[in-house]
Amino acid sequence: MQLTKLSGAMGAEIAGFNLAKDISKNLAAEISDALAEYGVLLFRDQNLDVESHKNIARHFGDIFIHPNFNTGDHDPEVVNIVRQPGDSRIVGEDWHADTTMMAEPPMGALLYALETPPYGGDTLFAAQWLAYEALSDDMKKFLADLKCVHSDIKVAGPHNKLNSKRATVVREDDGWKPTENSHPVVRTHPVSGKKCLFVNHSYSIRFEGWTEEESLPLLNWLMDWGHRPEFTCRLQWRDRSLAFWDNRSTKHLAVNDVHEHRRVMRRIQIAGTRVE
Ligand code: SIN
Repeated sequence: MQLTKLSGAMGAEIAGFNLAKDISKNLAAEISDALAEYGVLLFRDQNLDVESHKNIARHFGDIFIHPNFNTGDHDPEVVNIVRQPGDSRIVGEDWHADTTMMAEPPMGALLYALETPPYGGDTLFAAQWLAYEALSDDMKKFLADLKCVHSDIKVAGPHNKLNSKRATVVREDDGWKPTENSHPVVRTHPVSGKKCLFVNHSYSIRFEGWTEEESLPLLNWLMDWGHRPEFTCRLQWRDRSLAFWDNRSTKHLAVNDVHEHRRVMRRIQIAGTRVE
């Protein structure tokens, strides 16, 4: 593989493949290993219609249906992340791993750039294995048996009124109910075997068995620690770029700096397993 690192911490650009044509069981196995090592992979100049995008995704697992973007008016296997001029809010504007309120959060996502702005709209990533490794031994011991409750209360539902502020709509109907599940604060990556911090600003609300008041000082510290600059890389999009991120070992943030421009992305998520 022709691989160029995106930063000292993580991320790699991979050249030399036309994924729509070249994807195969063997190539998917190589990509899975690179994903476990680098956390996010970038492929430039890909020509992906919806079917080839889905076909690539299926080489890594089942396609995950996002419950909050499943609004009944589009293909549930695809989320079009559209930022229109005038939007004040965007999808993914806080540091997060995706959809971690689920009992089995997605293992990853394939995000494809359909229309990129002339500047801005980058996505930042943070390596959660580096964040874990840099903790003190005593903190690692303290976190070893701790679990955290994850909820989608901040990112969907009628109370947040997000749909009036952005073009990408989520479920805001009165029938919406929050989904909550607990996961270990430190998970072990099933391919690399590395331990990773697994808390994030969009979904983690309190430690299991602790009140919010008790949880927040440490939880906020851990969530902020997880994106110290030395754990991160920055991905600059061009039209027809495809990023594949590992949702088990990384967090990401979409930068809300596109101002009067449009940004259109197509995302397909890949199902994951219980967090261990
Ligand atoms: C997301 O959080 O999945 C969206 C990332 C982006 O649009 O850059």
